[in-house]
Amino acid sequence: MSEVHASQDRQHHDLVAPYYDELVNEPRKVLSDRVFGRIAKLLPTNGGRMLDLGAGTGQMAVRFGSGYREIVLVDHSEGMLRRAKENTARMERVVTIVQADALKFLECTDRRFDLIAAVGFLHHLESPELRAVLAHMRRVLSPGGQVVIAEPVQVTASEPLLVRAWNRPTIPKLRRYVDLAPAPEEELLHLDRFRVAAKDAGYSFQFERRAWELYARFRGSPIDRIGIALIDTLCHSNGFVWFAVMKGSG
Ligand SMILES: C[S@@+](CC[C@H](N)C(=O)[O-])C[C@H]1O[C@@H](n2cnc3c(N)ncnc32)[C@H](O)[C@@H]1O
Repeated sequence: MSEVHASQDRQHHDLVAPYYDELVNEPRKVLSDRVFGRIAKLLPTNGGRMLDLGAGTGQMAVRFGSGYREIVLVDHSEGMLRRAKENTARMERVVTIVQADALKFLECTDRRFDLIAAVGFLHHLESPELRAVLAHMRRVLSPGGQVVIAEPVQVTASEPLLVRAWNRPTIPKLRRYVDLAPAPEEELLHLDRFRVAAKDAGYSFQFERRAWELYARFRGSPIDRIGIALIDTLCHSNGFVWFAVMKGSG
């Protein structure tokens, strides 16, 4: 990530931070619960240390952190970390919040982590930096440790009509996010290239799942849960979001 891009990204996230949970995390929660719920079954309930890279408002720390004694959240946006501090305040865990560039943090740390979450963060990185981040994550991953990923990826298929119809009433409300602060231009993750980079860095895949974004329409009510479960079951393949769990190979 160039200095200019990093600075634009920091400014963007500082500005959107107070609204991020309301406009980004909450509308996606039903689908996130569904897929991350499956991932949670693969993770330990009594692990040692979790690292949340590009932690944002701390949704991964809140979701998975109770399975670990200690959680370290790293993000370059002060605004996002302020929300993360509030969101993790009630967790009865040792929580350390670090404002830093993720690669710089990884280069300097010699601690080991049983879980590394990198969600909505890896696609921000340009190829050489992505490879460096993957290599350092591998270096600091405990034996048997796991990496949880969820990233928007380049798609070849068009969005299914059912998905589009379900999301249509919610899209105008979510546009407020774009109006708050323009996001810097960024690439989506190129999945084939990522798989090669991950293999080169010494990972194998324990879990993979694609999904289309499906937003809650009725505040996460049972109607949302049933509607989203149905559409996700029918349409998830080739979806825009890629979820994965990686482990060290060999
Ligand atoms: C799309 S948000 C995702 C936040 C969180 N992981 C979640 O699941 O809600 C991406 C986050 O990555 C952070 N970020 C992007 N590039 C970064 C970098 N190079 N170093 C540290 N944080 C970075 C942004 O500030 C932002 O908070």
